[in-house]
Amino acid sequence: MAEEYKIDVIKTENSKLKSTSFDNLPFGKVFTDHMLVADYANGKWEKVQILPYGPITLDPAATVFHYGQEIFEGIKAFHNQDGNDYIFRPDKNWERFNKSAVGLCMPEVPEEIFIGGLKKLIEVDRGWIPTAPEHSLYIRPFMIASQAFLGVHPAKEYKFIIILSPSGPYFGKPAAIRIERHFTRSAKGGVGYSKNGGNYAASLKAVEQAEKDGYDQVLWTAPNEHKYIQEVGAMNVMFIIDNVAVTPELDGTILNGVTRNSVITVLKDLGYSVEERPISIDELAEAHKAGKLTEAFGTGTAAVISPIGKLELSEGNIINFDVEKFEIAKKIKATLDDIRLGRVVDTHNWLVKI
Ligand SMILES: Cc1ncc(COP(=O)(O)O)c(C=O)c1O
Repeated sequence: MAEEYKIDVIKTENSKLKSTSFDNLPFGKVFTDHMLVADYANGKWEKVQILPYGPITLDPAATVFHYGQEIFEGIKAFHNQDGNDYIFRPDKNWERFNKSAVGLCMPEVPEEIFIGGLKKLIEVDRGWIPTAPEHSLYIRPFMIASQAFLGVHPAKEYKFIIILSPSGPYFGKPAAIRIERHFTRSAKGGVGYSKNGGNYAASLKAVEQAEKDGYDQVLWTAPNEHKYIQEVGAMNVMFIIDNVAVTPELDGTILNGVTRNSVITVLKDLGYSVEERPISIDELAEAHKAGKLTEAFGTGTAAVISPIGKLELSEGNIINFDVEKFEIAKKIKATLDDIRLGRVVDTHNWLVKI
């Protein structure tokens, strides 16, 4: 039987809700009135609280500051056209979070704290869920090693925290991408599958260089030979080749994206073939030459579908896509929007009502 965790709620006396403008909400800069904080010590989750949002105190020797034991998730909740509030597939994020935890020798977070805590926190801050079209409440659960000691060992104390950030619509322009041929995001046997802060810190240099050269993001490739595709920036990547959706397989080096999984399911529902397998740059070049590479896009919680407008395969070999003609990407986005907004029946039970 599942253990029960009592979640204490201490409400703020200084709500910022009325003084916060929901027009032109920037991503990740505005936070709600409350946060959930759970403490792990002595081999168990001891205390779970919903507190007024604010700074936390940590010992400067806390492991997270030195050896980077940190993992996180990104989830969205939104106001549906039926007037209710829903979270999109939080069970998948919970599952992935615990896989990330195991990979970094951190404790797993029980469902009552991750999903139960999330629901309770959103109930407390429900007024912060934007109601305008395409807006959402971005949910950021994360865990840090909080034990104060300077040994390279898994810590024995942790904090699991959830913060919430109302966000506006994502108006991304078609991205200019180049194949990354020098830096490596992850290798087999590493922790590329996990959502740990270190993976993101290690990705910054490559993106900074690409931006200097006029690109928006990089298409990560497998190490050493840089021949096989992994993912695009902080998104999974998908190509339409000869009317078949092709995406790199989950080989431990890429994140098991919730959007990737949803897109694959929707594509199959719509009758398309999907192949999860290794994709080489040579294959992309040949498919392009033969006129078979018709669409390329990233998938992720933030943008859902992010079309690739320009893809540099090798120096001087650039594919310019006509994103207006991306029929399959458009269909997937429309179907996912319909499910999210309750315009079609949620046959896969992806929506969790709050
Ligand atoms: C490295 C990376 N790949 C893929 C994704 C897409 O995952 P999801 O669809 O779960 O947001 C993300 C974003 O969360 C990411 O950070």
